Amino acid sequence: MLLEVRDLHVEFRTRDGVAKAVNGVSYGVDAGETLAVLGESGSGKSVTAQAVMGILDTPPGRIAGGEILFQGQDLLKLKEEERRKVRGAGMAMIFQDALSSLNPVLSVGDQLGEMFVVHRGMSRKDARARAVELMDRVRIPGAKERVKQYPHQFSGGMRQRIMIAMALALEPALIIADEPTTALDVTVQAQVMDLLGELRREYDMGLILITHDLGVVADVADRIAVMYAGRIVEQAPVRDIYKAPAHPYTRGLLDSIPRLDQKGQELYAIRGLPPNLMDIPPGCAFNPRCPMARDVCRTDVPPLAEVAQDRASACHFWRECLHG
Ligand SMILES: Nc1ncnc2c1ncn2[C@@H]1O[C@H](COP(=O)(O)OP(=O)(O)OP(=O)(O)O)[C@@H](O)[C@H]1O
Ligand code: SF4
Ligand SMILES: [Mg+2]
Repeated sequence: MLLEVRDLHVEFRTRDGVAKAVNGVSYGVDAGETLAVLGESGSGKSVTAQAVMGILDTPPGRIAGGEILFQGQDLLKLKEEERRKVRGAGMAMIFQDALSSLNPVLSVGDQLGEMFVVHRGMSRKDARARAVELMDRVRIPGAKERVKQYPHQFSGGMRQRIMIAMALALEPALIIADEPTTALDVTVQAQVMDLLGELRREYDMGLILITHDLGVVADVADRIAVMYAGRIVEQAPVRDIYKAPAHPYTRGLLDSIPRLDQKGQELYAIRGLPPNLMDIPPGCAFNPRCPMARDVCRTDVPPLAEVAQDRASACHFWRECLHG
């Protein structure tokens, strides 16, 4: 495994109390593989990724337990200096909002080139040439001329391509993309997603794709991990999940995807709201919203159990869900 997160716990200490944002997450991704991490807002997707990248806000955040193995090394045991090296060359992150992640007063060529100057000791001239190459790689038309332009002179989709180029610059083994297309319109979303998938294959990278949109992951992801209240509630190959989810929450997410063949029909929405992370319900955290909940769900936490090869679900009644 390229990256293996084991039983990760993250909490935030605030004036109002302790928010348990990540409560025992385990997931892994191999080289050349795409893992999609899915779940509603506040389910802990980004916080888990920030812990992996080593960019968690501490304080108020705190890693309360677990291991993060990257190329066999536990990142949580590294000194900040060593950690920074891994972050520079081993892994990179792409964020939702390119405009606020890019420097507005530097040309994109200077920003891309900076990576090569700082990390590879290249001359400005060589770095500029590499920047143009990278912009070609992410299919920005007219890269040679546009390399001198500033972030605000690019469209949202093109800016996101620049973010992807920045992430690719040092050819990391792992890229984490946190809602990389959420701010874009639907056609551009698909193009950027295709590009990411293609580059992932080309560079044989591991890719973690965070999204709350099950619709966009079908074509790009190999496996899906569904998060709810800081836990993984289902993990499976993409095809299996689409065919038959083994968790009522996943089923709810699937039923909420707008479908072209059902135009005009009212869209299903999971009832209720995600729990308050300072006061997660006992038993299964999903029980107040679950159409299948029974008494045991209000008292016993369902373990994430293997339900088939390479497939796990945290539901007392996964069999019913899967076959029913
Ligand atoms: N800097 C912070 N300070 C305090 N609490 C935080 C902080 N960052 C995250 N949290 C807590 O962690 C929870 C999970 O946040 P996270 O950003 O991982 O959600 P997410 O699944 O990425 O949601 P979204 O889809 O909205 O991005 C939040 O609901 C919040 O309670
Ligand atoms: S354990 Fe119970 S409440 Fe939780 S998802 Fe399964 S049926 Fe629903
Ligand atoms: Mg997030």
